[in-house]
Amino acid sequence: MKIIFKVNLQERTYDGDPFKRLLDVLREDFGLTGTKEGCGEGECGACTILLDGQPVNSCLIPVCQAEGRGVETVESLGLPEKLSSLQKAFLEEGGAQCGLCTPGMLLSAAAHLRSGGRTDERSIRQAIGGNLCRCTGYQHIVKSIRKAAKKPRRTKSGVCISVKQMLKRDRKQILKECSQKSTRCASRSSAV
Ligand code: FES
Ligand code: FES
Repeated sequence: MKIIFKVNLQERTYDGDPFKRLLDVLREDFGLTGTKEGCGEGECGACTILLDGQPVNSCLIPVCQAEGRGVETVESLGLPEKLSSLQKAFLEEGGAQCGLCTPGMLLSAAAHLRSGGRTDERSIRQAIGGNLCRCTGYQHIVKSIRKAAKKPRRTKSGVCISVKQMLKRDRKQILKECSQKSTRCASRSSAV
Protein backbone atom coordinates (compact mmCIF):
# COMPACT_ATOMS: atom_id res chain seq x y z
CA MET A 1 0.00 0.00 0.00
CA LYS A 2 1.32 3.43 -0.93
CA ILE A 3 1.34 6.03 1.81
CA ILE A 4 2.36 9.59 1.04
CA PHE A 5 3.30 12.06 3.73
CA LYS A 6 5.80 14.79 4.44
CA VAL A 7 8.97 14.11 6.36
CA ASN A 8 10.95 17.19 7.33
CA LEU A 9 8.95 19.19 4.79
CA GLN A 10 9.72 16.85 1.91
CA GLU A 11 7.06 14.65 0.37
CA ARG A 12 7.95 10.98 0.81
CA THR A 13 6.24 7.84 -0.44
CA TYR A 14 6.28 4.58 1.49
CA ASP A 15 5.12 1.46 -0.30
CA GLY A 16 4.64 -1.55 1.94
CA ASP A 17 2.90 -2.87 5.02
CA PRO A 18 0.57 -0.08 6.22
CA PHE A 19 0.89 -1.34 9.79
CA LYS A 20 4.65 -1.14 9.93
CA ARG A 21 5.66 1.12 12.81
CA LEU A 22 6.38 4.69 11.79
CA LEU A 23 9.61 4.39 13.82
CA ASP A 24 10.80 1.56 11.58
CA VAL A 25 9.76 3.28 8.38
CA LEU A 26 11.74 6.37 9.33
CA ARG A 27 14.83 4.42 10.33
CA GLU A 28 14.82 1.51 7.88
CA ASP A 29 13.07 2.84 4.80
CA PHE A 30 14.06 6.49 4.93
CA GLY A 31 17.44 6.14 6.69
CA LEU A 32 16.55 8.69 9.38
CA THR A 33 18.30 6.93 12.24
CA GLY A 34 18.25 9.95 14.52
CA THR A 35 14.96 8.64 15.92
CA LYS A 36 15.82 6.04 18.55
CA GLU A 37 14.06 3.02 19.97
CA GLY A 38 14.09 2.46 23.71
CA CYS A 39 11.26 0.43 25.21
CA GLY A 40 9.23 -0.06 22.03
CA GLU A 41 6.10 0.10 24.17
CA GLY A 42 5.24 3.78 24.42
CA GLU A 43 6.81 4.30 27.83
CA CYS A 44 10.18 6.00 27.36
CA GLY A 45 9.77 8.65 24.64
CA ALA A 46 13.08 7.81 22.94
CA CYS A 47 11.21 7.44 19.65
CA THR A 48 9.50 10.84 19.89
CA ILE A 49 8.85 12.59 16.59
CA LEU A 50 6.54 15.49 15.79
CA LEU A 51 3.36 14.62 13.92
CA ASP A 52 1.71 17.79 12.66
CA GLY A 53 3.84 19.60 15.23
CA GLN A 54 2.83 17.47 18.21
CA PRO A 55 5.22 15.10 20.00
CA VAL A 56 4.16 11.45 19.61
CA ASN A 57 5.76 8.06 20.20
CA SER A 58 6.56 6.73 16.75
CA CYS A 59 6.86 3.17 18.10
CA LEU A 60 3.11 3.16 18.68
CA ILE A 61 2.01 4.61 15.35
CA PRO A 62 1.41 2.52 12.23
CA VAL A 63 2.71 4.32 9.17
CA CYS A 64 -0.78 4.45 7.66
CA GLN A 65 -1.71 7.01 10.31
CA ALA A 66 0.83 9.41 8.83
CA GLU A 67 -0.94 9.53 5.45
CA GLY A 68 -1.22 13.15 4.30
CA ARG A 69 0.37 14.49 7.47
CA GLY A 70 3.63 16.18 8.41
CA VAL A 71 6.36 14.33 10.29
CA GLU A 72 9.37 16.02 11.77
CA THR A 73 12.41 14.12 13.02
CA VAL A 74 15.48 15.29 14.88
CA GLU A 75 17.33 15.56 11.56
CA SER A 76 15.26 18.65 10.81
CA LEU A 77 16.62 20.60 13.77
CA GLY A 78 20.17 21.14 12.63
CA LEU A 79 23.09 19.95 10.59
CA PRO A 80 26.23 18.48 12.18
CA GLU A 81 28.13 21.57 11.09
CA LYS A 82 25.29 23.90 11.97
CA LEU A 83 23.49 22.97 15.15
CA SER A 84 20.29 24.69 16.20
CA SER A 85 20.30 26.92 19.26
CA LEU A 86 18.62 24.19 21.26
CA GLN A 87 21.17 21.58 20.23
CA LYS A 88 23.99 23.96 21.09
CA ALA A 89 22.54 24.50 24.55
CA PHE A 90 22.41 20.72 25.13
CA LEU A 91 26.04 20.52 24.09
CA GLU A 92 27.12 23.40 26.29
CA GLU A 93 25.17 22.33 29.38
CA GLY A 94 25.79 18.57 29.22
CA GLY A 95 22.15 17.84 28.41
CA ALA A 96 23.17 14.72 26.51
CA GLN A 97 25.21 11.83 27.85
CA CYS A 98 24.61 8.45 26.20
CA GLY A 99 22.30 10.26 23.77
CA LEU A 100 19.54 7.68 23.61
CA CYS A 101 16.89 10.04 24.91
CA THR A 102 18.33 13.17 23.30
CA PRO A 103 16.53 13.25 19.93
CA GLY A 104 13.17 12.81 21.66
CA MET A 105 14.05 15.38 24.32
CA LEU A 106 15.04 17.89 21.67
CA LEU A 107 11.82 17.46 19.73
CA SER A 108 9.59 17.66 22.80
CA ALA A 109 11.47 20.78 23.89
CA ALA A 110 11.33 22.32 20.42
CA ALA A 111 7.58 21.73 20.20
CA HIS A 112 7.11 23.31 23.63
CA LEU A 113 9.19 26.38 22.82
CA ARG A 114 7.72 26.88 19.37
CA SER A 115 4.22 26.82 20.82
CA GLY A 116 5.19 29.63 23.17
CA GLY A 117 5.21 27.39 26.24
CA ARG A 118 6.36 28.74 29.57
CA THR A 119 10.03 28.43 30.37
CA ASP A 120 9.99 28.05 34.14
CA GLU A 121 11.48 24.82 35.45
CA ARG A 122 8.15 23.21 36.24
CA SER A 123 6.73 23.87 32.76
CA ILE A 124 9.86 22.55 31.08
CA ARG A 125 9.73 19.41 33.21
CA GLN A 126 6.08 18.94 32.26
CA ALA A 127 6.90 19.41 28.57
CA ILE A 128 9.48 16.61 28.68
CA GLY A 129 7.42 14.49 31.06
CA GLY A 130 7.01 11.76 28.43
CA ASN A 131 10.73 11.50 27.79
CA LEU A 132 12.74 9.36 30.18
CA CYS A 133 16.47 9.75 30.72
CA ARG A 134 18.53 7.22 32.62
CA CYS A 135 21.72 9.27 32.56
CA THR A 136 21.39 12.94 33.40
CA GLY A 137 18.96 13.11 36.30
CA TYR A 138 17.19 15.77 34.19
CA GLN A 139 18.96 18.74 35.79
CA HIS A 140 21.22 19.31 32.82
CA ILE A 141 18.45 18.74 30.32
CA VAL A 142 16.16 21.27 31.98
CA LYS A 143 19.04 23.71 32.26
CA SER A 144 19.80 23.28 28.57
CA ILE A 145 16.24 23.95 27.49
CA ARG A 146 15.92 26.97 29.76
CA LYS A 147 19.18 28.32 28.47
CA ALA A 148 18.05 27.94 24.86
CA ALA A 149 14.73 29.57 25.64
CA LYS A 150 16.03 32.55 27.54
CA LYS A 151 19.25 33.59 25.94
CA PRO A 152 18.75 36.44 23.49
CA ARG A 153 20.79 36.17 20.32
CA ARG A 154 22.06 38.88 18.03
CA THR A 155 21.44 38.43 14.32
CA LYS A 156 23.73 39.61 11.54
CA SER A 157 21.68 42.75 11.23
CA GLY A 158 22.34 43.47 14.91
CA VAL A 159 18.78 42.88 16.05
CA CYS A 160 18.32 40.91 19.24
CA ILE A 161 15.71 38.19 18.94
CA SER A 162 14.57 35.50 21.32
CA VAL A 163 15.64 31.91 20.92
CA LYS A 164 12.03 30.95 20.27
CA GLN A 165 12.28 33.07 17.15
CA MET A 166 15.73 31.67 16.43
CA LEU A 167 14.38 28.13 16.62
CA LYS A 168 11.76 28.94 14.00
CA ARG A 169 14.32 30.71 11.83
CA ASP A 170 16.93 27.96 12.21
CA ARG A 171 14.41 25.33 11.30
CA LYS A 172 13.31 27.07 8.13
CA GLN A 173 16.85 27.73 7.03
CA ILE A 174 18.09 24.24 7.85
CA LEU A 175 15.20 22.58 6.06
CA LYS A 176 15.81 24.78 3.04
CA GLU A 177 19.47 23.75 3.01
CA CYS A 178 18.51 20.12 3.59
CA SER A 179 16.13 20.11 0.63
CA GLN A 180 18.87 21.52 -1.56
CA LYS A 181 21.25 18.70 -0.58
CA SER A 182 19.67 15.39 0.30
CA THR A 183 17.12 14.10 2.76
CA ARG A 184 19.81 12.21 4.65
CA CYS A 185 22.29 15.02 4.96
CA ALA A 186 21.62 15.65 8.65
CA SER A 187 21.44 12.06 9.81
CA ARG A 188 25.15 11.28 9.81
CA SER A 189 26.03 12.55 13.26
CA SER A 190 23.16 10.72 14.91
CA ALA A 191 23.40 7.44 13.00
CA VAL A 192 23.83 4.35 15.14
S1 FES B 1 10.62 3.39 22.12
FE1 FES B 1 8.76 4.41 21.80
S2 FES B 1 8.18 5.08 23.77
FE2 FES B 1 9.96 3.89 24.14
S1 FES C 1 21.38 10.85 28.00
FE1 FES C 1 21.34 8.67 28.27
S2 FES C 1 19.22 8.22 28.46
FE2 FES C 1 19.32 10.38 28.47
